[in-house]
Amino acid sequence: MNMDELKRQAAAKALEHVQGGMKLGLGTGSTAKHFVDLLGERVKGGLKIIGVPTSEATRIQAEACGVPLTTLDEIDHLDLTVDGADEADPDLNLIKGGGGALLREKIVAAASDRMIVIADDSKWVPKLGRFPLPIEVIPFGLGATRRAIESVFAQCGLTGEMVVRPGKDGHAFVTDGGHWILDAKLGTITDAPRLGTLLGAIPGVVEHGLFIGLANTIVLAGSDGIRVVE
Ligand code: 5RP
Repeated sequence: MNMDELKRQAAAKALEHVQGGMKLGLGTGSTAKHFVDLLGERVKGGLKIIGVPTSEATRIQAEACGVPLTTLDEIDHLDLTVDGADEADPDLNLIKGGGGALLREKIVAAASDRMIVIADDSKWVPKLGRFPLPIEVIPFGLGATRRAIESVFAQCGLTGEMVVRPGKDGHAFVTDGGHWILDAKLGTITDAPRLGTLLGAIPGVVEHGLFIGLANTIVLAGSDGIRVVE
């Protein structure tokens, strides 16, 4: 079975948790895209839900699928967010941001009563850190921000190469919020909650891709079936 089919199966499993009347956070990435497609089919069949997209890409896709949308200014909470991840560990901590949407993804996840992560089982790791950690930064003062980040890495016993994520035409990738992303190749992160707290305190860091304590359920699709971790 190919990877895309596994992603679709994970998305279909998460859809079982959606009920009429729910306010949903809609994730970003190739796995979340399947969820929005499948949700759109259910909406066309009469399911009444409303969604908050985590990126402009998801907003455009959801609109095209006929999924009604709102914002976190218009509603006070979400019942459920369904999103992908770049890595998930047994504590249900995540690395996200491979698609560059980590800031809105974290705002939406934090506003949700529940978060279901959908992924193929290659995303499951004993410890986070194989996937480069995305850190969303303000372009102003980048040198100072980088040095502060490196100092935090050293405090956490981590070293690693950090690069500005490239976008089109040799320029930096620009997020939906107008920021840049540093991708840090760290290797095993022994204390992800501490690293997240320290990174979050750096001026110039808008957000980082460590999602600590936000996910409630991970749906992993593999060639031997679907595994649900809670
Ligand atoms: C986007 C994300 C994605 O959820 C993550 O990159 C996983 O994407 P995919 O489902 O395409 O593997 O965090 O910012």
